[in-house]
Amino acid sequence: MLKFLKMIKLLVANWKANPETLTEAVRLAKNIDYTGVVIAPPFPFLDGVRKVIHKAKLAAQNVFWSDGPYTGEVSANQLKKLGVRYAIIGHSERRRNLNEIDAIINKKVTAALNNSIKPILCVGEGPELHKSGDHSKVLRFIDNQLKLDLHGIRNPRGVIIAYEPIWAIGTGNSDSTEHVSKVVALIKERLGSVSILYGGSVNPNNADKFMSIAGISGALIGGASLKSSEFKKIISISKRY
Ligand code: 13P
Repeated sequence: MLKFLKMIKLLVANWKANPETLTEAVRLAKNIDYTGVVIAPPFPFLDGVRKVIHKAKLAAQNVFWSDGPYTGEVSANQLKKLGVRYAIIGHSERRRNLNEIDAIINKKVTAALNNSIKPILCVGEGPELHKSGDHSKVLRFIDNQLKLDLHGIRNPRGVIIAYEPIWAIGTGNSDSTEHVSKVVALIKERLGSVSILYGGSVNPNNADKFMSIAGISGALIGGASLKSSEFKKIISISKRY
């Protein structure tokens, strides 16, 4: 009976602008095709990956809010028609490198929900704020991102929140369980029982620590999701919870 009540952890593989070829993408996808895994390949590989996965689900790394005359964009409607179930929105790499502001992120979250795509909304503080050591300031910063990014969303429970402290992404320095727990408490206080992922240097050595945090539903994984042996280890760790 307990088995049925257990919520399976969600492991989102954010491949970013990797790998180089469709052949490699397909090979990687086949290796990590497990229940609970969500694969977010770059746009050119979405359809190829879709064709070879059976248990994993598909995510886009970005989404646009409309069809029509928007050169270079891919709409939520197009992604839905392709079978994409999730979309990563507001990743710090897009906020920083493409000036993606909260008003844009809010439009993307809204469009994804309107097209039955589950947004994985990324929030998190940068290195300066982290270095200040002022936890309440960090929480206020995240709270403000949630407020702006989810403006007008009537049912935020349809959104997955990924807490990704920017200073922890790709650095090998993951966050402490104490700090992640404080952020989880803040998110729950503001949004109720939403799913929350942790992201930032998750690997087979620290996955256990993050999976065991109360209120954490899984992880958003960059680098380690490109090495199937590492990612598989994280999958088996996640199955313990
Ligand atoms: P890393 O796991 O490489 O730190 O990347 C995290 C991330 O940005 C996932 O979206």
